[in-house]
Amino acid sequence: MTDKTAKLTIGEESFEFPVMQGSVGPDVIDIRSLYAKTGMFTYDPGFTSTAACDSAITYIDGDKGELLYRGYPIDQLADKSHFLEVCFLLLYGDLPNTADLADFEERVTRHTMLHEQMHYFYRGFRRDAHPMAVVCGVVGAMAAFYHDSTDINDPQQREIASIRMIAKMPTIVAMAYKYSVGQPFVYPRNDLDYASNFLHMCFSVPAESYEINPVLARAMDRIFTLHADHEQNASTSTVRLAGSSDANPFACIAAGVACLWGPAHGGANEAALNMLREIGTTDRIPEFIARAKDKNDPFRLMGFGHRVYKNYDPRAKVMQETAREVLDLLGVENNPTLQVARELEKIALEDPYFVDRKLYPNVDFYSGIILDAIGFPTSMFTAIFAMSRTVGWIAQWKEMIGDPQKKIGRPRQLYQGAESRDYADISSR
Ligand code: SDX
Repeated sequence: MTDKTAKLTIGEESFEFPVMQGSVGPDVIDIRSLYAKTGMFTYDPGFTSTAACDSAITYIDGDKGELLYRGYPIDQLADKSHFLEVCFLLLYGDLPNTADLADFEERVTRHTMLHEQMHYFYRGFRRDAHPMAVVCGVVGAMAAFYHDSTDINDPQQREIASIRMIAKMPTIVAMAYKYSVGQPFVYPRNDLDYASNFLHMCFSVPAESYEINPVLARAMDRIFTLHADHEQNASTSTVRLAGSSDANPFACIAAGVACLWGPAHGGANEAALNMLREIGTTDRIPEFIARAKDKNDPFRLMGFGHRVYKNYDPRAKVMQETAREVLDLLGVENNPTLQVARELEKIALEDPYFVDRKLYPNVDFYSGIILDAIGFPTSMFTAIFAMSRTVGWIAQWKEMIGDPQKKIGRPRQLYQGAESRDYADISSR
């Protein structure tokens, strides 16, 4: 709390509400008593001005283009840390010492295999099913197999469910990819790091040995770090809302997967690469810029704009550098898609429409170029995003469950429907 208050005058009446201050970022007006005092609700579709919770996990300064995981800037973590260390940081609040990191990595490694009977779920899907449909189904089904970690009131069960989710998502996502290409599932290996294991499960085949390229593994690991958490975005808010009803953790993560799939959210990485391919050559960019500005055309520049960032998404900067490294390594000179992306970014950032609306590339603008160069089909991009965001969803879910102020989420509405009226018999309609 601060000693500041917010005064609200409605007609002849005045009301005061406490102002709360965080460690950094905007103050908030505590309006929990608003309805009781005034009989009114606030109105904020899309929650553009609403803080839905307290949190100490991730902070974004949209004007500065700054992203902190437990206070550490994302560019430093992407450069100096690695994904499982970032997972520890997000889950437990501080960077681990050597012993804690080794213990955490061992616990995750020991949970990477999926219950053998869950393999049958995959066979129920068409081979051309979208991987996100498969991942959403299989994650939800985990509640049917891991009964010993569904009691959200038991801290031990919450911990084991968290480790299982982080450990098994790469296996689940890789199996969705293998199923889509008609290749046999590849089991995880305990001698590989997280990113290398994922590449191994996706791209190795029984017929020959698979050499993991350390630069590609490092690029994958960095992509995981960049996507790990992002405050109260749509899918994290979905996980929190599902968790507020005491639903089991697997059901909550499955809800997050479903929400992330949308092209306005995590599905934008798939849509952005498809858009860059549709543009094809730099001479067609003006046509698409015009469409993005045309209010009568639903087309938007995918991978551009953000609810919070009104400056360059810091993740997009790291992603662009990584794209260049990966393409150089793979000897993909003058990748036409990257050329279109860079020219599109340059043109858009000079166009008043985008400048006035503070529309910049976001995390999804360049990630698809890297994943495509590594060999993933575009349909896998959002599933890879979900795999990375699982640690953020889990960390936010644990924080909410452990919050003494936890209440079931239940927003109200501004009702615009019919007033009370009597039933009319069909003969009189
Ligand atoms: C992610 O929230 C998160 O943190 C999400 C995320 C995470 O890590 O969890 O960062 C991941 O989802 C990134 C965003 C990926 N989505 C896309 O790239 C899809 C394209 N972007 C847009 O759909 C849009 O920018 C949103 C959804 C991301 C944000 O939309 P807002 O905040 O609701 O803004 P808005 O729709 O009200 O747009 C404001 C104006 C509008 O024009 P006017 O009405 O003022 O004339 O900007 C325009 C919009 O038409 N606009 C765009 C645009 N994005 C916004 N115009 C063209 N192309 C775009 N991409």
